[in-house]
Amino acid sequence: MVLVGVAVGAALALVAWLIPWLPEQGSDEAGGIDNAFWLVTIICVFIFALVAGISVYSVWKFRAAPDDEDDGSPIHGHTGIEVAWTIVPAILVAAISVYSGVVLTQVEDIPAQHRTVEVTAQQFAWTFTYPDEQLTTGELVLPVGEPVELRLQARDVIHSFWVPEWRMKQDAVPGITTKLVITPSKTGTYTVICTELCGLGHATMRARAVVMTQQDFQAWLRERRREAAAAGANQGKALFTSVGCGSCHVLQDAGSQGQVGPNLDNVLADADEEFVRQSIVAPDAEIAEGFQPGVMPKTYGEQLSDQQLDALVEYLLEAAGGGG
Ligand code: CUA
Repeated sequence: MVLVGVAVGAALALVAWLIPWLPEQGSDEAGGIDNAFWLVTIICVFIFALVAGISVYSVWKFRAAPDDEDDGSPIHGHTGIEVAWTIVPAILVAAISVYSGVVLTQVEDIPAQHRTVEVTAQQFAWTFTYPDEQLTTGELVLPVGEPVELRLQARDVIHSFWVPEWRMKQDAVPGITTKLVITPSKTGTYTVICTELCGLGHATMRARAVVMTQQDFQAWLRERRREAAAAGANQGKALFTSVGCGSCHVLQDAGSQGQVGPNLDNVLADADEEFVRQSIVAPDAEIAEGFQPGVMPKTYGEQLSDQQLDALVEYLLEAAGGGG
């Protein structure tokens, strides 16, 4: 009977393991995490199938005959089985704990040589700051093979940073800085996903993550620096993207497609400066038809310096009103 259970358990565990459920591994950390995942999953599938297999077999094998009015014979304990089902799970749980602990220590280890990127989460956008380069972008660009420490902060509510291919996941919590170490191992384009329900735009809170060769990454940095230098005139447009306006609003001039808030090409077509300024720092003062108050963050007044706010207002007036 136990043999039947073991056979069913082994078969199902093998099937579960052979199906490629997980996305490709895109970081050095992914291997250890997948191994820990499979260790736990295979043990669980095996035990479940063993118990379910024995139960179903017993129901079929020991069912009462139609004319059997008997109470059934008394059941006695079996010391051997009881000892086994105490010791075996204890060993399995201990093995899972130890292995998970080892993997956790490995993936949380921050190598002495690493890059740092500050990640800021807010409803409903991600921004990435490269402190060494004094550069802020709306997409996370990293060189392949180089460990990076992400320092996560949240401006409003709890968000959670996750790129499935990298496996590593961490919450961004207002008031504290949390950390995550990633060593991208494959070039390509991935998606940063927010995995903490953070409000109406949660499902749209995504950003691009691009992993490049070291050479391309250096070229990308040079290009950003050149842009930043030329940005004096274009600061407002850069702000529009970097503080996340485009994640929620359509604005043709900035090429943004966000659907959470009103289309700025429409609502700002005939707007004056005062209205634009108020809509940024006190967004609930006037709500566009078909939209709800409380969705747009009220933090921009503090987040932007006066000079930045001026640049952004000026840009919006020009881009939306001036037919830009
Ligand atoms: Cu941010 Cu969900």
